[in-house]
Amino acid sequence: MMTRTLGAGGPEVSALGLGCMGLSHGFGPPVPDADGIALIRDAVDRGITFFDTAQVYGPYINEELVGKALAPVRDQVVIATKFGFEINPGRPNSLNSRPDHIRRTVDASLQRLGVDHIDLLYQHRVDPGVAMEDAAGTVRDLIAAGKVGGFGMSEAGVEAIRRAHAVQPVTALQSEYSLWWREPEAEILPTLVELGIAFVPFSPLGKGFLTGTVSPGMAFEQSDTRSQLPRFSEPERSDDRRLVELITSIGYRIEASAAQIALAWLLARHEWIIPIPGTTNRHRLAENAAAVDVRLSADDLAAITAAADLVDTTRDRYPAEMQAWVNR
Ligand SMILES: NC(=O)c1ccc[n+]([C@@H]2O[C@H](COP(=O)([O-])OP(=O)(O)OC[C@H]3O[C@@H](n4cnc5c(N)ncnc54)[C@H](OP(=O)(O)O)[C@@H]3O)[C@@H](O)[C@H]2O)c1
Repeated sequence: MMTRTLGAGGPEVSALGLGCMGLSHGFGPPVPDADGIALIRDAVDRGITFFDTAQVYGPYINEELVGKALAPVRDQVVIATKFGFEINPGRPNSLNSRPDHIRRTVDASLQRLGVDHIDLLYQHRVDPGVAMEDAAGTVRDLIAAGKVGGFGMSEAGVEAIRRAHAVQPVTALQSEYSLWWREPEAEILPTLVELGIAFVPFSPLGKGFLTGTVSPGMAFEQSDTRSQLPRFSEPERSDDRRLVELITSIGYRIEASAAQIALAWLLARHEWIIPIPGTTNRHRLAENAAAVDVRLSADDLAAITAAADLVDTTRDRYPAEMQAWVNR
């Protein structure tokens, strides 16, 4: 697998990572442990060295799964997890990036992952109740203590990134970015390039939408978060079908799947982009990993980008309470 550098001074990682969330959270019931472990180890065998989890995935069980799966190859992989939520049993999670909470939950993540350090620790969402300098300073101290390798942020706005970076250089930003959601291109990407911060697009397949497998009218079960996401409601979803049809037809011509085209387009945007597609399915893992070898011509890239230009990006991505947490 081709590799890329994770930020200016970061480690080399596979150009595509593996988002592990869906194995435990977000797209229906968790997969059995044995299947999740087998899939993650299959990813390692395919050359994937960058794995993404978070405290809230499950909650907690995804970190345990990732830790178990990667234990035999711990020194050969980069494990990223995230802090920043108060996990409230029976109630929605709330933001919490207070220093004592960060320190306590990072210790718990280390235990669940079964590691002595976390390679990349993201703040999952900016907490307006805590000065950015305090959160970044806490991560800086955890890095100095050897518990954390690098600092990441997620869905942070430009001002928050700059404030954090001044205290503790940021290794990577993980935010939603795909053919279906290109807002980061306006201000975020240029800032990251200026500061030498890697960009790790989450939901690079548009949570499945860009793969062509989300058919018109398809309903999601309640435990699938897409049942609550405005962009998955009709008729909005159908309006964006043209984009999926275009990448499917280009894929047909060059013998690639729509998912592979969506990933190849992202990889072609900038050398510091490292997408983390997720799947619970081993044949899709193989398909997604092979996207690093898909080359799009300049004409195809331009046609795909032009089709993506037509997507309406004024719609919220999340229900109101979660939408308020992004791009701060
Ligand atoms: N920082 C954040 O706030 C945040 C938010 C969301 C996600 N993330 C991270 O980003 C990772 C990826 O994002 P995501 O899971 O939301 O979305 P995604 O990777 O864009 O899409 C995942 C969905 O696409 C399907 N899929 C994957 N490959 C496919 C293929 N080749 N053909 C057809 N369908 C395919 C999966 O279903 P199957 O399982 O059936 O293949 C799943 O439903 C997560 O695992 C998580 O680690 C971070």
